Amino acid sequence: MKKVVVKILKKALKEKDISMKDDELEKLIEIPPSTDLGDFAFPCFFLSKQLHDSPQQIAIELREKIGEPPSTDFEDIQTEGPYINFFLNRKSLARQVVWDVITQKKNYGRSELGKNKKVVVEFSSPNIAKPFGIGHLRSTIIGNSLANIHEFTGHNVVRLNYLGDWGTQFGKLLFGYEKFGNEKKLQKDPIKHLMEVYVKSNKKAYEKKAREEFKALENGNKKSLMLWKLFRNFSLDEFNKLYKKMGITFDSIEGESDYSKKSGEILEMLKEKNLLKKSRGAYVIDLTPYGLEHAIIEKSDGTTIYMARDLAAAIDRYKRYKFGKMIYEVGREQELYFKQLFKILELLGYKWAKDCVHVYHGHYLGKNKKKFSTRKGKTVFMEDVLEETTSLTRKEITKRTKKISKKELEDRALKVAIAAIFYGDLKNNRANNIVFDLKKFTSFEGDTGPYILYSYARASSILEKAPEQKKFEVHELEENEIALAKKLKDFPEVVLTANRTLNPSIIANYSYQLAQTFNEFYHSCKAIGSEEEAFRLALIQSFRQVLKNSLKLLGIEILEEM
Ligand code: ARG
Repeated sequence: MKKVVVKILKKALKEKDISMKDDELEKLIEIPPSTDLGDFAFPCFFLSKQLHDSPQQIAIELREKIGEPPSTDFEDIQTEGPYINFFLNRKSLARQVVWDVITQKKNYGRSELGKNKKVVVEFSSPNIAKPFGIGHLRSTIIGNSLANIHEFTGHNVVRLNYLGDWGTQFGKLLFGYEKFGNEKKLQKDPIKHLMEVYVKSNKKAYEKKAREEFKALENGNKKSLMLWKLFRNFSLDEFNKLYKKMGITFDSIEGESDYSKKSGEILEMLKEKNLLKKSRGAYVIDLTPYGLEHAIIEKSDGTTIYMARDLAAAIDRYKRYKFGKMIYEVGREQELYFKQLFKILELLGYKWAKDCVHVYHGHYLGKNKKKFSTRKGKTVFMEDVLEETTSLTRKEITKRTKKISKKELEDRALKVAIAAIFYGDLKNNRANNIVFDLKKFTSFEGDTGPYILYSYARASSILEKAPEQKKFEVHELEENEIALAKKLKDFPEVVLTANRTLNPSIIANYSYQLAQTFNEFYHSCKAIGSEEEAFRLALIQSFRQVLKNSLKLLGIEILEEM
């Protein structure tokens, strides 16, 4: 629908001797913050320099050049300070948007913005030999959504999981397993057993032994490697089960271990550039001139560390993918660390260092506003969270529906639970800490995932009962109909904004507003049997499609019945 606005602007600009491409113009057009300011707005600031005039004056002159707008498309075109505001003709807006959605279906809102641009999205990245904790859930949910949004805006996306599968803690674990391990227990409940072993061996008295074990592992000791591999596989099985439940997939599952051998090369490169300093036996880079403190690259005992592996990984990823952008979706506590990482890459002369971004998130808080943890202060495991959430949604569903098979109930309860958790997270600006409140998340009322899914199911049930659909005419429009049509119209723009700001909450909030707008429409405008039946059914069908597209970007699957 923006296209008509682009066309008009292009012509008017040409008369002022400015020629611009359609997609350039399209990017500049905004959605005004309130409908009093029209459906689209064109800001004139950027023309000021070229036309040697104030943006206000330019807006007025361009408006004059536009002349009488075609009344079928526009109700009015006005200037407001430096903006030109376009008010679409309501009937043609409604007709057009329904047409667009119904013909474009799952592609409505899709764009080609990222054509030929590769984007690596690293997310989730849990640590092996430990249960998947809530600490990695945010990265999983947000990273997945960012990958979806990039795909939908035409980027070529690589979804990458970078496991924490290397480091001194595996020295502890290997040593611990030799001392306290039990093969039967390992086979029975591997992760639990490994946790026990780790806790027992994580003691000061064993530190030296643990360090030796890690060194042996780094040097390729066969037995150590074999055990490590076993632990890694057990962990992956565990993670994959969870990913499957959550509907999360990756293009590549990699890990720190892939880069343990490369850190020698990294050290050489850094030495060559004169960046390395020895400090108390360890190698460090002085980043104080950039306000980024010192970054440790190698420990005094010669073992590799996180940073060295990350440097090697970044370089390798660029070699493999030639990305235009690489996103690391990792918690805010690693902010300084990623600044250091990107700075070092830049100092090594990699121009693409500027294309790396740390997209961070805050953490989950308990209802007491303290960090979310078990009563004993330990991390909360995803497995338990999923179980608890599913039991809550199962209860809600049985309250509403009695006639449901056990299998169907389980299936629905899980889907609603995932929607509850994902939406509960994504509705917030990712950088903020958020209260992890499962009771609230799973409520069927209010700003929640289940409420939104419910609206979808409600639309489905109307369409289910509807007679064969006919061609529709748009007659007089009710306020609630136009409000819904306008919301549908906004979707493509909302996706672009979420992509530009790397913020899925924009899509989450939109989904909620869309569901609300639909519910208001539903309560005031009868569809089946009314004079406007054909148009209203088409509007409902469009609503369903757009909500589905929108939720998909959040990683949430719809349900036809609830
Ligand atoms: N496994 C790490 C952790 O749990 C997160 C990895 C983040 N990504 C990276 N490239 N350093 O803290």
